[in-house]
Amino acid sequence: MAERNEPVAEGVFALRCQELKKSFQGVMAVTGATFDVPQGMITALIGPNGAGKTTVVNILSGMMKSDSGHMQIGSTDVTNWESHKIARMGLMRTFQLSRELGGLTVLENLLVAPQHQSGESLFNIFFRPGRAKREERENTERALEILNTYGLYDLRDKRSRELSGGQKKLLEIARGVMASPKILLLDEPMAGVNPALIDRIGGYIMDLKAQGMTIVMVEHNLNVVEKICDHVIVLAEGRTLATGRLSDLRANEEVVHAYLGEVINASTTR
Ligand SMILES: Nc1ncnc2c1ncn2[C@@H]1O[C@H](COP(=O)(O)OP(=O)(O)OP(=O)(O)O)[C@@H](O)[C@H]1O
Ligand SMILES: [Mg+2]
Repeated sequence: MAERNEPVAEGVFALRCQELKKSFQGVMAVTGATFDVPQGMITALIGPNGAGKTTVVNILSGMMKSDSGHMQIGSTDVTNWESHKIARMGLMRTFQLSRELGGLTVLENLLVAPQHQSGESLFNIFFRPGRAKREERENTERALEILNTYGLYDLRDKRSRELSGGQKKLLEIARGVMASPKILLLDEPMAGVNPALIDRIGGYIMDLKAQGMTIVMVEHNLNVVEKICDHVIVLAEGRTLATGRLSDLRANEEVVHAYLGEVINASTTR
């Protein structure tokens, strides 16, 4: 398993955003999100309910256009690119409320996830059937391997709507991993799951980091953040309040007043 809390490498950023803003019919959801995501690390995006975390994830993944601001992946400006183009740059996201396709089996849910399958184009089906078939077989093998990693292999033929809440969370991560992203944004991957599964998911996320993936995770549980995250971004009322290590942020009065005090109290009573 990867080393925890390695020092954040100076200047190597997988993802950067500058002054992102977004409002919905006059409601200012994001009022100035500015932060850098260090490459190959686990970054936590924390903040109170309604702080704009999911909206930021929606913008970064191309599912929503920002009203203003900029973002880049590596050195490429990808501001307001469509989500399929963002995915092609290697960025995938998962959803706070799992978005499994309930009528499909667990395995099928992974098979619809990968990008650029030759088999998807009619041209390939008619003119390169061998290549389409080979890719289908390779994708199936990869999907089964991932399901095995996440403890879902035995459930592969089950309709995903029949899974438990925790299993749906695992499937959501597996679907994100299926596309072999370089950057994976996880929106509350452990919300509502039991403590044993929280530990397991934490281990999976650290394994992804060990494989070289850059992770950004929205997380409310500060014990988890402390254990597995290298870097923390605090969002409050739509803007970046502070960034750094959790230990540094705990010493920042503004952050404690705006958020941490409230969460520390809440997490000790949970
Ligand atoms: N599609 C939308 N239409 C209108 N308002 C929205 C929409 N999405 C988000 N909002 C509003 O924007 C603000 C930020 O919401 P967002 O979901 O990004 O917060 P969050 O930090 O993810 O909160 P939580 O911790 O509860 O998931 C909230 O006031 C929310 O009601
Ligand atoms: Mg949210």
